Amino acid sequence: MRLKDKISLITGAASGIGAATAATFAREGAAVVVADINDEGGHRMVERIRDGGGRADFVHADIAQPKEVEAMIKFAVDRFGRLDILHNNAITASAGHIGDISLAGWQKTIDVGLTAYWYATKCAIAEMMPNKRGAIVNTASISGLGGDYMMGAYNTIKAGVINLTRTTAIEYARKGIRCNAVCPGPIATPALMGALNAQPKQISDQICQAIPMGRLGDPQEIANLVLFLASDEASYITGAYFVADGGLTAHTGMPSLFGVGPQW
Ligand SMILES: NC(=O)c1ccc[n+]([C@@H]2O[C@H](COP(=O)([O-])OP(=O)(O)OC[C@H]3O[C@@H](n4cnc5c(N)ncnc54)[C@H](O)[C@@H]3O)[C@@H](O)[C@H]2O)c1
Repeated sequence: MRLKDKISLITGAASGIGAATAATFAREGAAVVVADINDEGGHRMVERIRDGGGRADFVHADIAQPKEVEAMIKFAVDRFGRLDILHNNAITASAGHIGDISLAGWQKTIDVGLTAYWYATKCAIAEMMPNKRGAIVNTASISGLGGDYMMGAYNTIKAGVINLTRTTAIEYARKGIRCNAVCPGPIATPALMGALNAQPKQISDQICQAIPMGRLGDPQEIANLVLFLASDEASYITGAYFVADGGLTAHTGMPSLFGVGPQW
């Protein structure tokens, strides 16, 4: 078991990447605190883990509220005795062109997707420092590495998460706390599938065409990476970000011209 006896907390663990990671952590021996605003989904996740013989508990936490972030970290420590792994993962994002995003939408995106990541990190570090060990894994995105149309607020938080990761890593490297980020490409989670299913099928077809592997990722493919970074197998890795995107960002953007001529 790769996380035997570790105590973990995952935000946004009721759905998508967070849920896949929660199930994976539990399977690998960690106790899992499932933190989410979705109480029903969070309790369902906990039941699933317990049914499989794992240890888990749910805490309702709206990470946009600093008091709820504090309570979430305290819950993990009160319930399981300490905190070894924090996976900052939940987000809310307002879409729209830069000139159209509302001030409230922008601020909410920053509150949940950036300020809350910092504040949960701050609170977790206070618990990890006395134990001289800890692993923090932040869910960033390939959207933190470049711009996307209509996603300027999201692009901004994800770029911020990558540099939050680096600074956390260098400041706490000698205190036994590692911090890394994952950068998924398009992943077939309820969030993305809900958005795609509301659009003509042509849109998801075009997205898959742009991905060299020709398909969306599966949440489990990100959970596998988070598991590695959270585990002691990644003991010399800190301040890094890891892309898992089916090759999308390896591409310069030039068209493949496949089928245009025999040499292609
Ligand atoms: N799906 C993708 O294509 C993709 C790509 C790159 C990065 N990501 C990142 O992966 C992470 C998870 O996304 P997902 O696709 O699994 O989404 P999802 O919607 O399936 O899950 C997100 C979870 O976060 C919870 N949440 C939302 N606001 C919250 C708040 N204020 N406090 C606590 N919980 C809250 C939701 O209830 C939900 O359970 C996000 O950081 C997202 O940016 C996703």
